[in-house]
Amino acid sequence: MPDSNTTDFTNPSTFLLLGIPGLEAAHVWISIPFCAMYAIAILGNFTILFIVKSEPSLHGPMYYFLCMLAVTDLVLSTSILPKTLSIFWFNSGEIDFNACLTQLYFIYCFSWMESGIFVAMAFDRYVAICNPLRYSTILTNPVVAKMGLAVVLRGGMLILPYPLLARQWPYCKTNIIPHSYCEHIAVVKLACADIRISSYYSLSVGFFFLVCMSFLSSCPLSRPSGLS
Ligand SMILES: *[C@@H]1O[C@H](CO)[C@@H](O)[C@H](O)[C@H]1NC(C)=O
Repeated sequence: MPDSNTTDFTNPSTFLLLGIPGLEAAHVWISIPFCAMYAIAILGNFTILFIVKSEPSLHGPMYYFLCMLAVTDLVLSTSILPKTLSIFWFNSGEIDFNACLTQLYFIYCFSWMESGIFVAMAFDRYVAICNPLRYSTILTNPVVAKMGLAVVLRGGMLILPYPLLARQWPYCKTNIIPHSYCEHIAVVKLACADIRISSYYSLSVGFFFLVCMSFLSSCPLSRPSGLS
């Protein structure tokens, strides 16, 4: 809602995504590998879900995490690829403002969830290898569910400020986003306001991501000494 001191400009109701700027002529060709990979990803991930569901011997923590990963992959690729392909094929880069923020939220949120699921899967294998006798008492179904919930909440909460901050900025410059999806900084850059909070927040989240990943990959847990 524009209030009295922001009436000198109007927020755009839609944004325009450009696809890959400078490569417009090649869009159709670029779309071929993208479309093929998307089809394979959909097929492969649904196959995983189907096999785990129909095979009772696969009803264990490791496969539950694998299913979570498959679902995350499906959501992630489905929130990017259909729009990107329609830009490549039909030049339909127009996207509603709220749809853009929703896409932005899904992309970042599910990328975070994916990384969280990798951590959970690593923990699962760590316990299975280093503590095999207690595996079934440590990774019970409620524990798996709680880990899944923690992963979802972490991604959901951490990214929530992205669209909330982005939607309160006034937009007046242009509504053209030179990307094939609504990338966070590309969107908030279009605002005619001081967007430092958005930038700093996304920088800290990115930094946190890096620090988390490098710590986890170098921590002693990943090199169980009991194995040698
Ligand atoms: C699941 O989807 C992701 C991309 O979203 C893809 O990288 C991965 O290969 C897919 N898995 C299978 C088994 O096809």
